Amino acid sequence: MRHLIDFGDLSREEWDELYDRASRIMDAPEQFIETCRGKVAASLFYEPSTRTNFSFQTAMLRLGGTVFGFADPNSSSVAKGETLKDTIKMVSSYADVVVMRTPWEGAAKAASLYSHVPVVNAGDGGHMHPTQTMADLTTMTRLLGKVDGLSIGLCGDLKNGRTVHSLIKAMAKFKGVRFFLISPRELAVPEYMRAFLQEHQMPYTEVTGLEAVIPQLDVLYMTRIQRERFVDPLEYERNKGIYILTRRKLERAKEHMLVMHPLPRVDEIAVDVDDDPRAVYFQQARYGMFARMALLADLANQPRLERTPPVEIGTRPVCSNPRCITQTQPYLPPLVKQNGGVDCCAFCDAALR
Ligand code: NCD
Repeated sequence: MRHLIDFGDLSREEWDELYDRASRIMDAPEQFIETCRGKVAASLFYEPSTRTNFSFQTAMLRLGGTVFGFADPNSSSVAKGETLKDTIKMVSSYADVVVMRTPWEGAAKAASLYSHVPVVNAGDGGHMHPTQTMADLTTMTRLLGKVDGLSIGLCGDLKNGRTVHSLIKAMAKFKGVRFFLISPRELAVPEYMRAFLQEHQMPYTEVTGLEAVIPQLDVLYMTRIQRERFVDPLEYERNKGIYILTRRKLERAKEHMLVMHPLPRVDEIAVDVDDDPRAVYFQQARYGMFARMALLADLANQPRLERTPPVEIGTRPVCSNPRCITQTQPYLPPLVKQNGGVDCCAFCDAALR
């Protein structure tokens, strides 16, 4: 692994190795304080963040490395109209690893074409968020002892929730996982995710109600309705507050079910659920820091490429997804990939029409 753009790019063996390292770090963090000594991470956050940004920063500091970057792109030359390519060329000249979050889908993939050092996708629009998935899998494995064979309910905005898409991708690497996809119809998983589930023969059931399926779940993964991704504010108004997990609803859940959430929470988990022993979302955020330490220990120590491979110049945007990075960076090559036999944009996964 050179970059972490999409969890699907990791093999099961690579994940097992990362998890092993994360576990060893949790058990004896003092043994890792020199792991990234002298290494520098760039942290480019074009979108708001609390956990991902801070947990990456603290992960690097706890490994003995340092961090620079921005949490507000208006403080960098992006505000002067610099392209993503040029920003990445520069930043990867200064850093040993680049961590980036953007509102544009496929931006981390685009950055990886031009970077001299490994790129980590810390969230690209409504597309993917693989390091949140590392936090999620670490939580399930530490607390339930395994991921294979779990019944997992994903609840909320499954259309725009990138953590959900990454988690589904990851589960193809495990055996016997069954999904309950709980969402309003208009916020169901995107077509490319449904194609992925079918291609990998992963059993899933799409439902609109939470209460009926709760008793069957080993993990309930709640998500926020992603207000910033809605083009139509009325669509958000129709769907906000649609799922609220309460203590009463939890009464019917298994005794050892985990309630997870990538956070931030808006109103989808009532505050009094926090004291239920099954509520593990704050612990999940802490595990995320250890998982990111395991990742940085590997990526920040990889050799720098003095020359990056040549990239064909794009002449026409192939993708019509308005949130795709190819819409704002027209020099990108027109890369196509297949998802379940359908031609899709290799940056954002949207089906090409
Ligand atoms: C998530 C994200 O940014 O996608 N947050 C996180 O990284 N923990 C979830 C969200 O914003 O709803």
